[in-house]
Amino acid sequence: MASPPFPPLPTLPKPVVSSGFRISKEQLTTVIPVAVAAVVGTYLVSRYFSGVRSGSKGQINLTVNKVSPKVVHSFDIEDIGTKAVYCRCWRSKKFPYCDGSHAKHNEETGDNVGPLIIKKKDA
Ligand code: FES
Repeated sequence: MASPPFPPLPTLPKPVVSSGFRISKEQLTTVIPVAVAAVVGTYLVSRYFSGVRSGSKGQINLTVNKVSPKVVHSFDIEDIGTKAVYCRCWRSKKFPYCDGSHAKHNEETGDNVGPLIIKKKDA
């Protein structure tokens, strides 16, 4: 029987690859759902609070002519008279005119909106 051409190599120790952090499959079945729930929960809470701040789902106009794709009012300046007060908070029952509803809106939301007042210099 012929001997091998080279002497056998000494047995080398196996390299140890470890970050010091190990997680089992059983732990993964708990960690993954908790992580997903945390991400989804954070997203839903942030969506809820962004909706609360701006009314409903980011809409400013909650009630005025909602069937129209765009609410537009136009006035001839000659017809305004000496003074006109227009709503900018979209809460007025007399929209587009201000009825003072902005005060309640500001109190409830911490907002600071008010009307647009157009008047002649003398008025
Ligand atoms: S009611 Fe809207 S600004 Fe006054």
